Amino acid sequence: MNIFITGVNGFIGSHLAKHLHAKGNKIYGGSAKTAARQDLEPVLYGYSQLFLGREFDPGIFKNIDVLIHCAYSFERKNIKATNIAGTKKWFYAGRDMGVKRHIFPTSYSAKPGSKSDYGFIKYELEGFFLQEKQLVIRPGLVLGNGGIFRRMNRVLRSFPVIPLIDGGNYDVPIISVEAVCRAVEKILSNPGPAQYQLFQEELVSMKHLLQEMKRQSSARCLFLRIPSFFPLLFLKILETLRIPFPIKSGSLIALKENQDLAHTSSLKQLGIRDKPLKEILDSSLSFF
Ligand SMILES: NC(=O)c1ccc[n+]([C@@H]2O[C@H](COP(=O)([O-])OP(=O)(O)OC[C@H]3O[C@@H](n4cnc5c(N)ncnc54)[C@H](OP(=O)(O)O)[C@@H]3O)[C@@H](O)[C@H]2O)c1
Repeated sequence: MNIFITGVNGFIGSHLAKHLHAKGNKIYGGSAKTAARQDLEPVLYGYSQLFLGREFDPGIFKNIDVLIHCAYSFERKNIKATNIAGTKKWFYAGRDMGVKRHIFPTSYSAKPGSKSDYGFIKYELEGFFLQEKQLVIRPGLVLGNGGIFRRMNRVLRSFPVIPLIDGGNYDVPIISVEAVCRAVEKILSNPGPAQYQLFQEELVSMKHLLQEMKRQSSARCLFLRIPSFFPLLFLKILETLRIPFPIKSGSLIALKENQDLAHTSSLKQLGIRDKPLKEILDSSLSFF
């Protein structure tokens, strides 16, 4: 198959590119940077610089069978329009060029009326892709050498005190990036339902996850149990002052909205068994 991955330089996009290439597919990609990551050079058949919401050459989608939409912009200015209109534009351009199948990674943060931009954007776009009879995958927190998980690790290692919001007593769905790749491979070879919930059946509490991450990375931070109001205010002030910080206020709002998980895992149905948390952490933390 000819597969085009947007956001190919990112965490999930780059893993998918390598995995699907190893399974005999021809991989093309686009991302915001001028060039593809060096480690993707042996894997990519073609690369295009692509910005959500900006002009592009629709010809890049010619002869593509599957378009996987991994690009997401966290740039706050016009964030909703950039992501929603930009992603739809790529969908329509792909469809006009004959792309039959699209895969959209949504999130368990996607909820009607979500107060976070992220949850709002993901909900809008998952509805759009489902209406267009395309595939939607919903990964939990993806564990591996990138994405929000790497940003969480950076915070654990950089700060002596970490606020444990609401005591960390809420469940988080998790999955390794390898299991996400195997799931996408299976979905592509035998598409069934329109939506797949990609996370382990057993949820872990945020407190347990952070404690395990701390133990395995030998971080020395202390956890301080606090209500979510204070870190939220702190992050919003940083964002207003345009001071960069690895975690965004939207992620925190989404976290609070996620405390009742409305979906059940599709991993068993796909015949995929993920590794236990400890093993995933062992392999991913060695990258940091
Ligand atoms: N990681 C998770 O735990 C998780 C869980 C559920 C769903 N998801 C979803 O899965 C997708 C991929 O996530 P990820 O963890 O791989 O994220 P990531 O590592 O942050 O990758 C995002 C990609 O989007 C590209 N990008 C950023 N701004 C852009 C813009 N304005 N125009 C075009 N491309 C832009 C980046 O390009 P450059 O690198 O070239 O700058 C990057 O390659 C996202 O939609 C995310 O919401 C992730």
